[in-house]
Amino acid sequence: MNTDNFLDIDDLSADEVDAVLTRAAALKNGDDAQLADQTLGMLFEKPSTRTRISFETGMTQLGGHAIFMGPDDIQLGHGEPLKDTARAMGRYVDGIMARLFSHEDAEILAKYADVPVINGLTDDAHPCQTLADLLTIREQFDDDVSVAWVGDGNNVGQSFAIGCALAGVDLTVATPPEYPMDEAVVDRATELGGEPDIYTDPEAAIEDVDVIYTDVWVSMGEEDKREAKLAAFEGFQLNEELLAGTDAKVMHCLPAHRGEEITDAVLESDRSIVWDQAENRLHAQKALLVELLG
Ligand code: CP
Ligand code: NVA
Repeated sequence: MNTDNFLDIDDLSADEVDAVLTRAAALKNGDDAQLADQTLGMLFEKPSTRTRISFETGMTQLGGHAIFMGPDDIQLGHGEPLKDTARAMGRYVDGIMARLFSHEDAEILAKYADVPVINGLTDDAHPCQTLADLLTIREQFDDDVSVAWVGDGNNVGQSFAIGCALAGVDLTVATPPEYPMDEAVVDRATELGGEPDIYTDPEAAIEDVDVIYTDVWVSMGEEDKREAKLAAFEGFQLNEELLAGTDAKVMHCLPAHRGEEITDAVLESDRSIVWDQAENRLHAQKALLVELLG
């Protein structure tokens, strides 16, 4: 692998994404891989179910070990600068996975830690989620597949847009005008050959697609924007009415807020592939860990 860190999905080339997904599928099918005696330090500024459990379980299955550190567990939460935390941690562990608010902080961590740093979600990107998403899509469909992103243009969507370009997945995007993807992200996806079609109307975006993917409307750390966001996302809910004319599958990175971005009926329906998607976090990240730390 040509990168030392995995902060953004396009830290990997298209071939490297393909290699990680191929390894992930093999690991899922029972292939063995080892990171014996290696330790992953896991730093969380925000809560997590899937990321925390899948990384910790993944390291255990690979014969290694993971250490969970919440915001109050270490000196970082009591005034020690991130760059000092990074340098000290890097002297003990073999790799760091971090869930942070600021993407720039992930870059600082990577700059100062002398070991690979993996982004476990920042406000701008969630590349580990994208690997699992692409693995799920690869399991369900042949090469010719189209996906609509319907929801917020922030972290999960942005990494997914670039990931689709790297993996040759056709993408349409519908975000409210107030919450678009960054222009730089759309430009990067286009540069990689993705050319996503951008809409502000969910109905237009989901026409003729194989998969519809959404995420929460109010991300972690945005609680003060809740009222404005709920108003802006009116009409973006994945419900039976919006999905009436399509047999597309439904994806969600989870956690889901039933009654907001998706209804209980849609999430629990046959079209939902969210549990495979959640499981694939484990397999995709094990493959990534082996490629980065192995
Ligand atoms: N999708 C995802 O990252 O889930 P968690 O917040 O539970 O880790
Ligand atoms: N956009 C969501 C993703 C959670 C996995 C958030 O940032 O809270």
